[in-house]
Amino acid sequence: MTILYEPSRQVAQHFAMLIGGDVRTAGSLDETHMLLDEDPDEQLVLFGPNTPLMEAVGLAARFRLARPALGVVLLRHSLEVNVLADAIRSGVREVADVNDPTSILAACARSQDLSRRLTGGSRAGAEPAADGRVVTVYSAKGGCGKTMIATNLAIALASGGAKRVCLIDLDLTLGDVALMLQLQPERTIADAVPVADRIDETGLRTMVTPFCPGVDALLAPVVPTVAEQINRELVTEILYLARSMYDYVVIDTPPVFSEHVLAALDSSHQYLLVATPAVTAMKNLRILLDTFDVLDYRKENRLVVLNRADPRLGVTPADIERVLRIPISNHIPMSRDVSISINRGVPIVLDSPTHAVSEAIREVASKRIGAEMASPKGLKSMLSRRAKR
Ligand SMILES: Nc1ncnc2c1ncn2[C@@H]1O[C@H](COP(=O)(O)OP(=O)(O)OP(=O)(O)O)[C@@H](O)[C@H]1O
Ligand SMILES: [Mg+2]
Repeated sequence: MTILYEPSRQVAQHFAMLIGGDVRTAGSLDETHMLLDEDPDEQLVLFGPNTPLMEAVGLAARFRLARPALGVVLLRHSLEVNVLADAIRSGVREVADVNDPTSILAACARSQDLSRRLTGGSRAGAEPAADGRVVTVYSAKGGCGKTMIATNLAIALASGGAKRVCLIDLDLTLGDVALMLQLQPERTIADAVPVADRIDETGLRTMVTPFCPGVDALLAPVVPTVAEQINRELVTEILYLARSMYDYVVIDTPPVFSEHVLAALDSSHQYLLVATPAVTAMKNLRILLDTFDVLDYRKENRLVVLNRADPRLGVTPADIERVLRIPISNHIPMSRDVSISINRGVPIVLDSPTHAVSEAIREVASKRIGAEMASPKGLKSMLSRRAKR
């Protein structure tokens, strides 16, 4: 069933006929909400051409987290770039040209298909419910240690190979995961593009690159322009599937607030926000935390990790907490051994599990994310089993 919101009755009739099937029409936003309340399983709301853009944006933002299976599709007379960007950022799935019936039908079909996938409908219960824990490592500022933390955290979460972890490089244009783990990007997330809408477990398994026992990496495309073909729906689809196959999914991100990052944050249980003791990084993080409030990302799921903590820099953790108005959950010290480990291509938690940086990351995994504490012995054995491969 579909809800079509359009104030003009004549226009509503035209689009109801075009879409066909069971369409319920609403003449106002209140009426749309009433219809949505009546049917909690409703999967598509179509905003007609005469509806205010802000109403579609508001409804999409409100239901993005509360009812992720609900798709919002917007019909517009002109597809201006800023309209598209605002709409998509708020969670509107598609914006279709009102004069192009084919693209309207295709947009509705894509949205309904995604909804079915999100509710597990198209899989007829063939696979286990998604229950892996998803952690996105993010910072709006570049170079503060996201990839270093994401790679080491993924290894720490694997608890010596007892747990399955998928590390996803969502820095689609400049991803560094392959470089940091010295993996050959023969298979990457780009392989998902031709099979978008129908990736299954086997498909995802062929796209990941094993790194060490328990840890697989889904690498960024080698050709950066492929990133344009990877849209928010595809990222959501991959994450949903990864959750059903792994105990933990760790997502490394670019330092921009892209639609891919938004898809990752929407699918995450925890947001690991990386701060560094620099004024600009703190200012960026404060703005980001305000954005998180607007987007309704729950406060209790936010972890602020201070990387490159160094008392000699003159900024105390108390100063940082005062600016950020949120406690710092963990401190990762500054150490040149981090750069050495990156240059060697062996993450520091594997190479030196008892190093202060490794201890801090293992603590994030165990105390903040709830994994079993990876023992130094277990980590060393991961390294030697990796070498034997
Ligand atoms: N705790 C640390 N101590 C010393 N150096 C560090 C530490 N953490 C990260 N670095 C250094 O900072 C550099 C940037 O780290 P990293 O690539 O993880 O950042 P990033 O946030 O992923 O960057 P980008 O935004 O470009 O993706 C690395 O070269 C690394 O050597
Ligand atoms: Mg990075």
